[in-house]
Amino acid sequence: MTADDHPNNNRQKTVLVTGATGYVGSRLVPQILPHYNVRCMVRDPERLDAAIRDQVEVAQGDVMHSHSLRECMQGVDVAIYLIHGLGYGPDFQKKDRIAAENFLNAAQEAGVSRIIYLGGLGDDEDPGLSPHLKSRHEVGEVFQASEVLTIELRASVVLGPGSLSYELIRSLTQRLPVMICPKWLSTPTQPIATEDVLAYLQESIELPVEKSEVFEIGSQDVVTYGGLIQMYAQERNLKRYLISVPLLTPYLSSLWLGLVTPTSAQVGRHLIEGLKNPTVVRDDRARKIFSHQAMTTQEAVRQAVEQEA
Ligand SMILES: NC(=O)c1ccc[n+]([C@@H]2O[C@H](COP(=O)([O-])OP(=O)(O)OC[C@H]3O[C@@H](n4cnc5c(N)ncnc54)[C@H](OP(=O)(O)O)[C@@H]3O)[C@@H](O)[C@H]2O)c1
Repeated sequence: MTADDHPNNNRQKTVLVTGATGYVGSRLVPQILPHYNVRCMVRDPERLDAAIRDQVEVAQGDVMHSHSLRECMQGVDVAIYLIHGLGYGPDFQKKDRIAAENFLNAAQEAGVSRIIYLGGLGDDEDPGLSPHLKSRHEVGEVFQASEVLTIELRASVVLGPGSLSYELIRSLTQRLPVMICPKWLSTPTQPIATEDVLAYLQESIELPVEKSEVFEIGSQDVVTYGGLIQMYAQERNLKRYLISVPLLTPYLSSLWLGLVTPTSAQVGRHLIEGLKNPTVVRDDRARKIFSHQAMTTQEAVRQAVEQEA
């Protein structure tokens, strides 16, 4: 089947992809390019992959500067929000919210008919929810409370080389044969393959829904972070010993993590604070509503390790 024969083909539709220089966005753009008129919103066009730059409309915009968004949104049908404020500093939660409000206002003004947002899993009722996960949910709430139909996809660790959370797991496992780990080793999580996230995002563009929705997405099975580390080690033929030390607080373990991983200590700290929170699919409507079916965690880890090569 050629791209033009594809049932989803709708070149008339303009899809704005934000975060197009990021992990998810840079992989989503080539995937949807055959089917839509794609506009990439970036802070710095030079950072956009050269191969992509020539095939898309490029719009310069920064969600912290509302005036820069007006032009980016002109003529957009569907706007995909793939931005997080992990790099914004200590008040990232407030900035994340302002960014979402700026984005929403511009989308409303331009008559955008759908927003798709990739956020994070985690239980809203959990009083110990990490600031990062809380902030991901707050961004979703900003969009959900608006008139613009919003599809919010909530995911845990996206497995693939280059994804921040995957890089944490990878560098920990590669560098340390014996790991002294805090309690979060036994926290349940339901990571997801990059391929699956991209498929859900693409399907969301046309998904027939009548109102804004939150869909929880993940691989077929739940694992613990310790189990995930062991799965990764197994795929790489590494022997790893995990020793759980309950007294290592998230703060201390983030300092330690800063020493052993390439992810900046600040970003790593925000991510690791979330490791104490279960991030599993509790509402499995995505499985029934989307045609795409996700793979198992083991398959996702295997695929990620193959991509490393
Ligand atoms: N990766 C995961 O494991 C994972 C898991 C669950 C959910 N998610 C969600 O998926 C989405 C995308 O994540 P990702 O892993 O692709 O992140 P990423 O690789 O860190 O990319 C973030 C993107 O946001 C852009 N950005 C940051 N601040 C901006 C601003 N003020 N204005 C415009 N653009 C800005 C960055 O552009 P610059 O190049 O200009 O910095 C970059 O393109 C996020 O909402 C995240 O919460 C990711």
